[in-house]
Amino acid sequence: MAKQTIAVFGATGAQGGGLVRAILADRSGEYSVRALTRNPSSDKAKALAQAGAEVRAADADQPETLAPALAGAHGVYCVTNFWEHFSPERELAQATAMARAAAQAKVGHVVWSTLEDTRRTVPLSDTRLPTLMGKYKVPHFDAKAEADAAFEQAGTPTSYLLAAFYWDNFIHFGVGPRRNQDGVAQLALPLGGQKLPGIAAEDIGKCALGIFRRGAAAHGQRFGVSGENLSGDEMAQKMGAALGEKVIFQDVPFDVYRGLGFPGAEDMGNMFHYQQLLGPAFLKARDPELSRELNPELLDFDGWLRTNARSIPIP
Ligand SMILES: NC(=O)c1ccc[n+]([C@@H]2O[C@H](COP(=O)([O-])OP(=O)(O)OC[C@H]3O[C@@H](n4cnc5c(N)ncnc54)[C@H](OP(=O)(O)O)[C@@H]3O)[C@@H](O)[C@H]2O)c1
Repeated sequence: MAKQTIAVFGATGAQGGGLVRAILADRSGEYSVRALTRNPSSDKAKALAQAGAEVRAADADQPETLAPALAGAHGVYCVTNFWEHFSPERELAQATAMARAAAQAKVGHVVWSTLEDTRRTVPLSDTRLPTLMGKYKVPHFDAKAEADAAFEQAGTPTSYLLAAFYWDNFIHFGVGPRRNQDGVAQLALPLGGQKLPGIAAEDIGKCALGIFRRGAAAHGQRFGVSGENLSGDEMAQKMGAALGEKVIFQDVPFDVYRGLGFPGAEDMGNMFHYQQLLGPAFLKARDPELSRELNPELLDFDGWLRTNARSIPIP
């Protein structure tokens, strides 16, 4: 039987890259992979081509480039990168263009990497979370959730994947531990006593492949993925054990975090605060058991630390 092609947005990034590598490593031979990128001549795109992926140009800011890049594909993984531009409106426009192009190309199955609309449980009138940019509580969540309607309206059978906090953020996103004045490594996050669902970024794509494999049973379904849901103290203890030194956890007040001044600090602060306000409901929406069914290789935090702890910078 001919292989079915999965076209992957964000192929040179964390989520899409994990899916490309998962398909290339898949022994079932069911799928081939098409990596979509704005720049096929980048080092990352060339590495994907060398690893066996078909690489095609596509730019979500130029909607006319998308349907030709999706032609003949059975499935499409759609992910947008809020952190490149910090604009919820642009993120919604990109996702809408992806949804329309998938329908135009008559793709059979879309997996859209969405997040919750935080305003459903914390309306704009709720002053516990400051309203941002006039109409959002957590812009990078809310814009993705708004795009769900574009996928529904476009009509292609769609599954909705909700990612958890990448543990890789401890390496690449500046949220890892820092040494306090006593020289002790201190992990500081605003969790409000709540557990944090986390995942190895590479596992998100592996879970996405599991969703494509489910076929029609996954259409219209939501899949929240997590490797393990841990408290701040648990993460610090495990990090310390992996590093062979003491790591302590500091639960930062939400207002302090929102005021840190780095780009996106208010958005991130509101995100953590929203997770705390939702409590068990937020944890329930990201299920390690379901994630392991989708991806039997799913790592827990100890598993992620085994390969990555030494790459965590501790400034
Ligand atoms: N970090 C976390 O803990 C976390 C957790 C949950 C959800 N998320 C969400 O994950 C999203 C980012 O995904 P990621 O971490 O996989 O991204 P990433 O590693 O930063 O890579 C971004 C990818 O997006 C592609 N891209 C950007 N603009 C594009 C455009 N206009 N057209 C086509 N492709 C475009 C880039 O491809 P080229 O440069 O090759 O074109 C690249 O492959 C964010 O929106 C964030 O909200 C993050």
